[in-house]
Amino acid sequence: MQTVRSSEELAFVREKLRGGATLALVPTMGALHAGHIALVTEAKRRADRVAATIFVNPTQFGPSEDFSRYPRREAEDASMLEEAGCDLLWMPAVRDIYPEGFATTVRVSGISERWEGEARPGHFDGVATVVAKLLLAMRPDVALFGEKDFQQLAVIRRMAADLGLGVEIVGVSTVREPDGLALSSRNAYLSADERQHALALPRALHDAREKILGGSSVADVLQAARSSLVDAGFSRTDYFALVDADTLEPIEAPAGAMRLIAAAVIGTTRLIDNISV
Ligand code: PAJ
Repeated sequence: MQTVRSSEELAFVREKLRGGATLALVPTMGALHAGHIALVTEAKRRADRVAATIFVNPTQFGPSEDFSRYPRREAEDASMLEEAGCDLLWMPAVRDIYPEGFATTVRVSGISERWEGEARPGHFDGVATVVAKLLLAMRPDVALFGEKDFQQLAVIRRMAADLGLGVEIVGVSTVREPDGLALSSRNAYLSADERQHALALPRALHDAREKILGGSSVADVLQAARSSLVDAGFSRTDYFALVDADTLEPIEAPAGAMRLIAAAVIGTTRLIDNISV
């Protein structure tokens, strides 16, 4: 695996790697776990060459969020990627992505405004802008994103289609711990006690799915799920909702492809999760 930092170096190495081969891109913020590696594994199935990026993107963190304490583990991340069969790792500096005087924002309206967009103002502008830049610099045939961040995946699909980036956006199923907790770099913030209580989140999603499929009232089910999170020690639920899997608009009566999505805070850690219904 080749590791590059500056955009100039990337342009040079990319040409050599690419040749006539197909290229897949897996963008990340590092602190890698089996969820990220599943993206690399799927990428290898879909393209001849696989590139990954590690960039803790300052513009997608709010002023009171965890940008400065976000875990950084470059050496460990690089060896995990190498072992997974990644060919190229790009770790740009902030100046490579946001040159002096940078003044352009990619904003996806509609689908980015609810849920995470409401709880984290500006978050998806930061995500869409950085992902557009990464895709333009790497120009892959396919780019892979986790369903763990279900709304992010939908925002990126919309952005890539709207800007005609000519890249296929692929979603990969959420990788979970054996007990059901979705893998996340932020799980590292949880105390042993919080880690135990955090299980209430995937449980509440599963219980809600069973009840909705069993015909219970959607409003009652969602209310019960929110209460179960409070009972388990979550201090706040930003949302726990049943949405249309494509538009992410809330739905009151089950129909078509649906998704249960949730975000809740335990201790100082905000966790998100979702499942299909
Ligand atoms: P990050 O949180 O590092 O996640 C990188 C990719 O890994 C995302 O596509 C995310 O959905 C996926 N991922 C995370 N946990 C996963 C899990 N348990 N199972 C499957 N996939 C998982 O998401 C970002 O970084 C950033 O917003 C980024 C897209 C890189 C833009 O900065």
